Amino acid sequence: MPAKIIILANQKGGAAKTTTAVHLAGTCVRQKIKTLLIDADKQGTATTWVSQAPEGYPHKIRVMGLANAQGKIGQEVKQYVDDYDLIIVDCPPSVESPIPQAMLAIADLAIVPIVPKPGDLWASTDLLELAERTAAINPGLNVRLLGSNVVANTAMSKNCLEQMETMRESAPLFKTRMHQRTAYVEAMLAGDSVHYFGASARTAIKEIESLYGEIADIIGLPKIKAKRTAAKAASGKGGAVIDLAKNKAERTTAKAA
Ligand SMILES: Nc1ncnc2c1ncn2[C@@H]1O[C@H](COP(=O)(O)OP(=O)(O)O)[C@@H](O)[C@H]1O
Ligand SMILES: [Mg+2]
Repeated sequence: MPAKIIILANQKGGAAKTTTAVHLAGTCVRQKIKTLLIDADKQGTATTWVSQAPEGYPHKIRVMGLANAQGKIGQEVKQYVDDYDLIIVDCPPSVESPIPQAMLAIADLAIVPIVPKPGDLWASTDLLELAERTAAINPGLNVRLLGSNVVANTAMSKNCLEQMETMRESAPLFKTRMHQRTAYVEAMLAGDSVHYFGASARTAIKEIESLYGEIADIIGLPKIKAKRTAAKAASGKGGAVIDLAKNKAERTTAKAA
């Protein structure tokens, strides 16, 4: 069966597209789903993130940079659908770019992460309208909003999330919210998802696996096996706490070499 295609799209920068893309990829790799992460943003954050993982890392995420393909990215991606079970595309933050449109035309699922703040809600309109127009040529396209970088228990985020629930009939809101957590940021230096931290990131792992579960139901991916759930999350460095200063020093040395 050809790979399912998930895209992370929103014209707003800072919406957590890259964070979500890498975390979904890290989750899927652990489920033994043959996953390719495509970095379609010329900033290359997803590529740099994944490259932080050490050589031979058992949960290494496969990443490919395709930002230069621009409007031809759909044809490029199609070349890999027989080699993978899942392709996750991290789109650039721009409506002018032809990439989100080209990818909406072939995707099974478009995830639109939105930080629940008024300006961020308004900024998603153009992309959601584009998705509605594109659904006419891609009837298999599912579109979902995702509450990202959510600061829990503030009246503003609650209010915005409520609005997101009913904002667009064509784009329901995921039940899972990605809350604001340092672990998601620190995972960058590990070159992996929060699974790297093992039990010390249990809540974050549970959150991303809950999102995966919702996605699995929508596009038909395998359910997470019980023994792989957050409570027993086994990672390459189970429970390791990453030494940020050391890691930074190592990266600086690597660059200089
Ligand atoms: N759930 C979260 N908790 C804490 N920080 C987050 C979270 N999601 C994203 N961030 C941070 O917000 C910033 C923007 O996220 P990023 O994934 O790069 O967004 P985008 O790809 O949409 O531009 C980054 O610094 C990232 O580390
Ligand atoms: Mg990004």
